[in-house]
Amino acid sequence: MIKLITATAFALLVSLAAAQPAIDGAIADGEYANTLTHDGSGMVLYWTVDGDMLYMGFTLEARGWVGVGWGAEMTNRKAGFDVLIVTEQGGEFVALDMFQESARGEPVLDSEEGGSNTIADFAATRDGDLWTVEFSRPLDTGEDTDVAITPGTPMIFMGAYANVMDVSRAHGRSTQGGAWYIEDFTF
Ligand code: HEM
Repeated sequence: MIKLITATAFALLVSLAAAQPAIDGAIADGEYANTLTHDGSGMVLYWTVDGDMLYMGFTLEARGWVGVGWGAEMTNRKAGFDVLIVTEQGGEFVALDMFQESARGEPVLDSEEGGSNTIADFAATRDGDLWTVEFSRPLDTGEDTDVAITPGTPMIFMGAYANVMDVSRAHGRSTQGGAWYIEDFTF
């Protein structure tokens, strides 16, 4: 009997850990398989790779927009990185699927560069200035305006936040903590 209870409890734990995160703007303890805190910004990242999909969430305090990005390698600062910006437009939270062409300056919408919005699911909430963001996306969208994610291979992750919701306005300077890289990030 004890064996059976132990086996059932173990099976439940495994199924909980393997469950797909719910993209609902709330991150529960143990909802994601992986988590990492970036000390400088206080950003907490959560992610699960399930089949050919990435499920990702993060919390970050900011008065304005928040964003994440990733690249396979760094050749010229953030040039060539995939970018996702989350902001408020017309009273609603939106996720903008973007791409970073230039080493400095703003990313562009994928849809303006021959790509499309490949975010499969998205939800965000704000508690004061604390964002909770969740999204899912295919690991490899096959589009030139996205960077394919290779689980198990170190990539470079980046984050940024602004003091305004207007995405034509930059984040704070990277030298002052407004934008940062996390090297050797493994999805
Ligand atoms: C998800 C969104 C974004 C992320 C994760 C991000 C990340 C970064 C990072 C890591 C740097 C440092 C590059 C380096 O010095 O090697 C940087 C620089 C820069 N970014 Fe962004 N960025 C984002 C969006 C934007 C937007 C929307 C703008 C403008 C509208 C912008 C403007 C700039 C500028 C002007 C620099 C050079 C100045 C500096 O180093 O602070 N970025 N960005």
